[in-house]
Amino acid sequence: MLRTNLPAAQRMMERLDALARHTDEPGKLTRLYLSPAHKAAMAEVAGWMREAGLNPVIDAVGTISARYEGSEPGLPALLLGSHIDSVRDAGKYDGPLGVLAALAVVEELQRMGERLPFAIEILAFGDEEGVRFPMTLSGSKAVAGKFDMAALAGRDKDGISLGEALSGFGYDTSAIPAIARKKEDVLAYLELHIEQGPVLEAENQPLGIVSAIASIARLNVTLTGVAGHAGTVPMAYRKDALVAAAAMIVETEAIARAMPGLVATTGRIEAKPGAVNVIAGDVAFSLDIRAPEDEVRRAGVERILTACRAIAEARGIGITIDAGYEEEAALCNPLIKEALGAAITAFGYRPITLPSGAGHDAMAFVDLCPMGMLFLRCKDGISHNPAESITPEDGEIALAALLHVVRNLDPKAFTVKA
Ligand code: GLV
Ligand code: MN
Ligand code: MN
Repeated sequence: MLRTNLPAAQRMMERLDALARHTDEPGKLTRLYLSPAHKAAMAEVAGWMREAGLNPVIDAVGTISARYEGSEPGLPALLLGSHIDSVRDAGKYDGPLGVLAALAVVEELQRMGERLPFAIEILAFGDEEGVRFPMTLSGSKAVAGKFDMAALAGRDKDGISLGEALSGFGYDTSAIPAIARKKEDVLAYLELHIEQGPVLEAENQPLGIVSAIASIARLNVTLTGVAGHAGTVPMAYRKDALVAAAAMIVETEAIARAMPGLVATTGRIEAKPGAVNVIAGDVAFSLDIRAPEDEVRRAGVERILTACRAIAEARGIGITIDAGYEEEAALCNPLIKEALGAAITAFGYRPITLPSGAGHDAMAFVDLCPMGMLFLRCKDGISHNPAESITPEDGEIALAALLHVVRNLDPKAFTVKA
């Protein structure tokens, strides 16, 4: 096992535990974007940044940023970040690992009294999971200059719009466009994240180099049938929206199984009126469809929606499909992949390159600057689950590798497009 002796590593693990206490649901870790728990987590992270002598700034979409200047003030920055929002009933590491590792990198540089030929900007985004509002990556898109102001009108399940939630947090949404960084001020974006899959563990390697982040489409399907008495309406006379949804979900699975690379999920379904003795008249369910290649995702969406419409028609059920959110696949930068490979090899591990099926803040940066991601193995490949787990040893290895990449990064190697 690697012994790096980084004092910041243990602190990072302790902070990961401490941050997990900020939850909107007692007994579980649920920290949705712009919720009270998110606010409390932001205060805690900003406090740790201040303890490290940094000056955290919170922007108009709730991203915390803190700059560690390089050998002279105002140099272009290497962006190191991830997110502090979570799914419902989440684990501790999806997101916070990348944020707290970035802070630990800076703390190690401070301990060594080292300034680099570039600045480091730590970023803690608040909206990577996209659980609350129809769009996602608000924080990273704003920094990357890709925030779509139309997204402010998107509403959560309680009818609160993103714009209203931001105003409720005291943010001025007219300041969002000014969050965008200029290309010449940014060197690259690098994110450490747990793998959220089983490959690294199976390969007995702690670290992996991400090749690309999969493309994603999220859609909402609404079905309208006829509610009725569960005992009196014969089967042949029913327009059961829930059975139609079931048929669609099963067909979606069959299509995804038949198309290599495609994955499709219904993770949310709501049936109304929702009583044991009433045929469901109204059903809404989500579709999350992903593939490493954009063409595969597009073809998959097309086939799934065609199948859903055909099932609806055959059953006499009304159907509305709302496109929620779509993100193209994002390729990681070859120079960053090389730098990550060199760090992994330097510590005696085998550099494994793998794609990411999960979405990440890094996707937002693909047009702004060179972007790359380092994956850390997690137990049994489990994530979006309270059983999500990494070992302290792996946490230290990840921090050491990230620090190695940062200290060896040649700013001249990254073309700065003005
Ligand atoms: C975020 O974790 C996503 O990929 O949905
Ligand atoms: Mn994540
Ligand atoms: Mn996640």
